[in-house]
Amino acid sequence: MLETIKDTVNYIRTHIKSEPEVGIILGTGLGGLVKEIEIEISISYKDIPNFPVSTVEGHSGKLIFGKLGGKNVVAMQGRFHYYEGYEMSKVVFPVRVMKYLGIKTLFISNASGGVNPNFEIGDLMIINDHICLVPNPLIGRNESEFGPRFPDMSEIYDKTLIIKAKAIADKLEIKVQEGVYTATTGPTFETPAEYKFFRIIGSDTVGMSTVPEAIIARQMGIPCFAMSIITDLGVPGKIVEVTHEEVQKVATKAEVKMTRIFKGMIEQL
Ligand code: HPA
Repeated sequence: MLETIKDTVNYIRTHIKSEPEVGIILGTGLGGLVKEIEIEISISYKDIPNFPVSTVEGHSGKLIFGKLGGKNVVAMQGRFHYYEGYEMSKVVFPVRVMKYLGIKTLFISNASGGVNPNFEIGDLMIINDHICLVPNPLIGRNESEFGPRFPDMSEIYDKTLIIKAKAIADKLEIKVQEGVYTATTGPTFETPAEYKFFRIIGSDTVGMSTVPEAIIARQMGIPCFAMSIITDLGVPGKIVEVTHEEVQKVATKAEVKMTRIFKGMIEQL
């Protein structure tokens, strides 16, 4: 595993001029942030040794290096989901690669279904905690170089970054919610009974990503900030048919606000 990661990192290093300080994972319908990056080089996943290749519509599959908010960043346009059939070690492989490339902070975005009755479609939610209902990506042999066998999860989403995000959103007059994201395997959206269950166990939103990557970031000591766009509601009385197309449409519309917050935060790092 370690050797594979290092081979991939060495390949990427021969193509980039400067080491990235910030990693960004862009979720469904959220690739537009890339337009804000002064791109130095973009590498297709298919050209990167050992990299999985994205199979979902809306995830174009490129690693983009450049400058955003005055910092060197690496952005994943397209991520890997467990429901695509990858083993968890593949889903989180890019996070480990980004760590070895030198990132000091990780930003993650996603689209999710809101189960908090106070949420509205198109809202942004800062993730302040999560519930992991997918297989834990750390199951299996642990490379001690990655981090502890039993990583602490008491502050998985960095509190200082959350405070900064709220101050920036306030200044930009962008409404943000805050809460708990629950990760499920997907690819089915939830039944009404499942949405109800997620609310009862303490979720504000439910989605199919982010948690594996955040766990890896935590284990490897990378402060992590994650934001969710509420693309549909799993709230009794407000549940309607959900489609991937609708999720993408809402995410794309709301992402302008999210991009402004991410950029503002990166400027201040
Ligand atoms: N459930 C799970 N994942 C999602 C949803 C949802 O309602 N919306 C966007 N991603």
